Amino acid sequence: MTAINKCLFPVAGYGTRFLPATKAIPKEMFPILNKPLLQHGVEEALSAGINNMAIVTGRGKRAIEDHFDNAFELEAQLKNTPNEHYLKDIRNVIEKATFSYVRQKKMLGLGDAISTGKTLIGNEAFAVILPDDLCANSGDSVLAQMIELHKDYPDCCIVAVEEVSKEEVGKYGIVEIEAISNIAKNMQNFAFKITNMIEKPTQKESPSNLAIIGRYILTPDIFDILEKTNPDNNGEIQITDALLALAKKGKVIAYKFKGKRFDCGSVKGFVVATNYFAKAEGLI
Ligand code: G1P
Repeated sequence: MTAINKCLFPVAGYGTRFLPATKAIPKEMFPILNKPLLQHGVEEALSAGINNMAIVTGRGKRAIEDHFDNAFELEAQLKNTPNEHYLKDIRNVIEKATFSYVRQKKMLGLGDAISTGKTLIGNEAFAVILPDDLCANSGDSVLAQMIELHKDYPDCCIVAVEEVSKEEVGKYGIVEIEAISNIAKNMQNFAFKITNMIEKPTQKESPSNLAIIGRYILTPDIFDILEKTNPDNNGEIQITDALLALAKKGKVIAYKFKGKRFDCGSVKGFVVATNYFAKAEGLI
C-alpha cells in the first residue's frame, strides 16, 4: 500500500485563456484525442496507486461529476453492441476510483483551492494534479515517480520541476535549489532541496529557470500554513508562497521528472499535445 491515498484536483478555474470555448464547458472536459484532460489526470493518479480523487470544483462544472458516474441509458444502449468497447476506459476508471467533491466558493488562487480541499483530505500527505499540465511517459508516470521519492522523504513536500526558457519564467512558480546530502545515487541528478521559490517572478528577480509544473506531493501541515499565507497583489493565495515557509525549514524537494509535459491550459500547448498523442496513436 502506498503512503499516499488521495489525489486532489483543483478544477474550479474559469479557463479564461480558452474563452469562448469555456463559457459552458469546463476546460478540464476538453479532450486530448477522445479523453478529457481530467480523465488523463485521474488515470495518472490511478497508475501511481491512488484510488481516491478529491475534486475541488466550482459553479458550472457539473459535467465533471456526470463524467465520472455511470450513465445507465448509454450503458444499456451500447451493451452487447460492437460499440461497447468505447466505454471500456471510463468504466475502468469509475470502477477503480472514488470521487468526492467540494466547491470553491470564490476564485482566490491555487492555495485557496487546495485549502478548500482540506475537508476531503484530512490529516495525511496527499498528491495534487493540475490537469492542465498533461504528462506523457513511456515508463512510470510523473506522479508514480514522485511517490517513489516520497517513500524516502515522507516528511517533505515534493514539487515536479522542469527547465523553461528565460522568457517563460513569469508564467510559473520558480525554484532555487541545492544538492541534498546523502541522497541515493539514482536520485542525485533528479531530486534537490529547494532553498527559495517565487511565484511568477520577473526575469530579473527569477532565481533560476526551473519551473514548478502541476504535480505536487504535500504534507498535511500545508493546510495550517495556507491559512496564514497572505494573498498576493492580485488577492490570490499562492501554494508557492505557502511552500516557501516549509522550504525555509528544508522540507521541500524539487524533482526533475522523466517524461514530457504539455501546457494544455494554453491553446498552443493544447494543440501541441493533441498532435503528440495523435502521432503516438498513428492517427496522423
Ligand atoms: C500554477 C502555480 C505555479 C505553477 C503552475 C504550473 O500556476 O501557481 O506555481 O508553476 O501552476 O502549471 P497557474 O498556471 O495556475 O497560473
